[in-house]
Amino acid sequence: MKKWWKESIVYQIYPRSFYDSNGDGIGDLKGVIDKVDYLVELGITMVWLNPIFKSPNDDMGYDISGYREIMDEFGTMEEFDELVNKLHENSIRVILDLVVNHTSDEHPWFVESKKSRDNPYHDFYIWKENSGTKEYPTNWGSEFGGPVWKLNEGTGEYYLHIYSEKQPDLNWENAKLREEVYELMKFWLDKGIDGFRMDVVNKLAKDLDFPDGVVEDGEKYASFRPFSVNIPKVHDYLKEMNEKVLSKYDIVTVGETSGVTPEIADLYVREDRNELNMVFQFEHMLVDRQSSKWKKKEWKLTDLKRILNRWQIELDDKSWNSLYWSNHDQPRAVSRFGNDKEFRKESAKMLGMLIHMMKGTPFIYQGEELGMTNVHFDNLSDYKDVEIHNTYKEYVMNGNMSEAEFFESVDFAGRDNARTPMQWNSSLNSGFSKAEPWIKVNDNYKEINAEEAMADEESIFHFYKKLIQLRKAHEIIVYGDFECLDEKNEQVYTYKRKLENKVLVVIVNFFQNEVTYELPEDEDFSQSELLLANYDVDENILADIIQLRPYEARTYLYEICSE
Ligand code: GLC
Ligand code: CA
Repeated sequence: MKKWWKESIVYQIYPRSFYDSNGDGIGDLKGVIDKVDYLVELGITMVWLNPIFKSPNDDMGYDISGYREIMDEFGTMEEFDELVNKLHENSIRVILDLVVNHTSDEHPWFVESKKSRDNPYHDFYIWKENSGTKEYPTNWGSEFGGPVWKLNEGTGEYYLHIYSEKQPDLNWENAKLREEVYELMKFWLDKGIDGFRMDVVNKLAKDLDFPDGVVEDGEKYASFRPFSVNIPKVHDYLKEMNEKVLSKYDIVTVGETSGVTPEIADLYVREDRNELNMVFQFEHMLVDRQSSKWKKKEWKLTDLKRILNRWQIELDDKSWNSLYWSNHDQPRAVSRFGNDKEFRKESAKMLGMLIHMMKGTPFIYQGEELGMTNVHFDNLSDYKDVEIHNTYKEYVMNGNMSEAEFFESVDFAGRDNARTPMQWNSSLNSGFSKAEPWIKVNDNYKEINAEEAMADEESIFHFYKKLIQLRKAHEIIVYGDFECLDEKNEQVYTYKRKLENKVLVVIVNFFQNEVTYELPEDEDFSQSELLLANYDVDENILADIIQLRPYEARTYLYEICSE
């Protein structure tokens, strides 16, 4: 079924690093307002704002202490309203982050909750006593290192935090808590926002038996994941949320769901299940990682194809997926999957084309359209991410990893790679702020910045603009069926989309070696026409054998003549 959100092209803004309007070194809402023209120029149709709510920023806004308040550094509610209006005037929708797996430990609910066992808010969080000889109620380790439990002296109980200890998990078993969440969702929806990106939404339900897990070799704790990810009860919560809130508005919801297969994702997004509209799945983000995100894994193009193809094919017309290479939690795509040196532009464009021509709703993370790269800092203190600091404590200070190994891992896996300030121009602090930014700017801002890219017709920015325009112009890109044409090729990724009598063919050389590529014999490309490529291409019609240059990517379109 056609839906506006299937046709959206989303731009993700990490407000802290987007644009600082008042010279305090921190990006803010007014800064986003000032840059709406840039978004219009790019052509995107929806914005996702990372958390903008009151927060002590232990986890950069993912630790909320006031759900109905704007973070002090980001500005005021009036500015928020102004931003929504301005986006809407420009036909850009806006979704917010809904972070309700946990709050900040400074949220008034938690402040009350920890006071005593009979406090009315006590049951808003997950409390456990520790019996017997165990160190903690369970042996689960948290996502950011250390145990998931922390003792509250006041009540003699431990609270659960699957993220940092300043992010206590909410107790979704409690109907009163659920009602509070629905009310705060309505508060924002009634202001006219267009939906939510739902933070770690497949972790809301926990295994209420709280069993111990298996501790892997070399680890101190067991993973909490078997006991908090995709626990069936989560679907009851989402169905209730849908019935009481979501179904009353014309909005979109995107669930962040690590650890889902297409089969499991279907349970969250299948139309007739009345839960969410689409998910962020993570399988392609794990293709180059061992079970620990800090350790690289050898991988082949066929591994990536298997994953992406599967998601293209197995989610049928009744389900929907998102498409992304990057966000605020992932390293920069061009550094990770492309070549951010000699072939930065070619490889960034190739990556863009590969997923923007697929089925799903594309998400572009700020700076991706400029080919911004990973960053390297020499000092631990230059990194601001709680995950990096906690991992340092867990691995380096405990002697599990050398300092050199750790910094190498941070270079390719650290979340701060994606969080350095947006590179607007070649002036001081990349034009992001007049003051020293909260996190250092990447040194390469003099060459890589929006001003330069907008002036250069051959830039990644202009290529992304074209990808966006194509999606708006051709329904086949949104709704066409998908078929991979060469599942086994280790260098070239070719696929076909089909809608009625139209066919779109995408061919990308995923690597920097040139290659002679032979197209499948049973296809007739004689009527094809080149739509877009990242090099000058003479062949307006797709030949049977083509020579592909480093990271070369092309899209062709044709009609099948009915005889
Ligand atoms: C999500 C967010 C991430 C955050 C975590 C805890 O994965 O994207 O930035 O640290 O949830 O809220
Ligand atoms: Ca500011």
